Amino acid sequence: MSVHKNVKKVTTHTLETHKNSGEKISMLTGYDFSMAKIIDESGKDIILVGDSASNVMAGHETTLPITLDQMIYHASSVVRAVKRSLVVVDMPFGSYQGNSIEALSSAIRIMKESGGHAVKMEGGKEILESIQRILTAGIPVMGHLGLTPQSIYKFGTYIVRAKEEQEALSLIEDAKALEAAGCFAIVLEKIPSTLAKKVAETVSIPIIGIGAGGDVDGQVLVVHDMLGINNEFNPRFLRKYNNLHEQMRTAFEDYIKDVRSGDFPNASEQY
Ligand code: KIV
Repeated sequence: MSVHKNVKKVTTHTLETHKNSGEKISMLTGYDFSMAKIIDESGKDIILVGDSASNVMAGHETTLPITLDQMIYHASSVVRAVKRSLVVVDMPFGSYQGNSIEALSSAIRIMKESGGHAVKMEGGKEILESIQRILTAGIPVMGHLGLTPQSIYKFGTYIVRAKEEQEALSLIEDAKALEAAGCFAIVLEKIPSTLAKKVAETVSIPIIGIGAGGDVDGQVLVVHDMLGINNEFNPRFLRKYNNLHEQMRTAFEDYIKDVRSGDFPNASEQY
């Protein structure tokens, strides 16, 4: 972590304190320098360099194609912008499942080459060995349960997970296993709010929800979604804080008009 004077940095310990005091944790995704700078200035606790970059930055249908090198590129751009927020970096599909030694070397590459502060991994008991190996290297790990988009071809759909008792019980067991292993927080994606509340009450580490209701310790949204940049994604859990799609399009059209009419540049806009 680079040292910036007079800035109180968010650490995994800060988040633990928030959980204990009941102060809600705010997290947004970020993928590039300019956006991350604004997010950091706004006072967010965590910037997640999500593998949703595969969707919103690269235009892929799923998160599966993004590579470790690409994640490191996005994460290092974010880290250069950040003075305060904790930067958590998603480990991409294929960089940690099924082989804990490879998982550790992927996590080390992320930490060394991007300067990120922690990694996030999707899954429960099935990836526990990888999580444990990464934790022994001193790398903080955030878990991710519920709808885990890297498993979309197993699920077959993006609908709400763990509505059935069996899946709900197994999710609670997974959350306990992640806590016992030493994860510092868990993201719960798209599960019933009653289940998310139960998980948040069961484990002592912060639970950060997306489509998991308000009875958890914090919330995360994809920045492009909450800014309304993508006007085709409208799930129930998404609150849009702007309509940037409309505003950007209008700005681009105004620019084209001004260029075509010769209004831009005017006398004060040239040398
Ligand atoms: O990649 C991502 O943006 C995420 C969030 C949706 C939690 O994992």
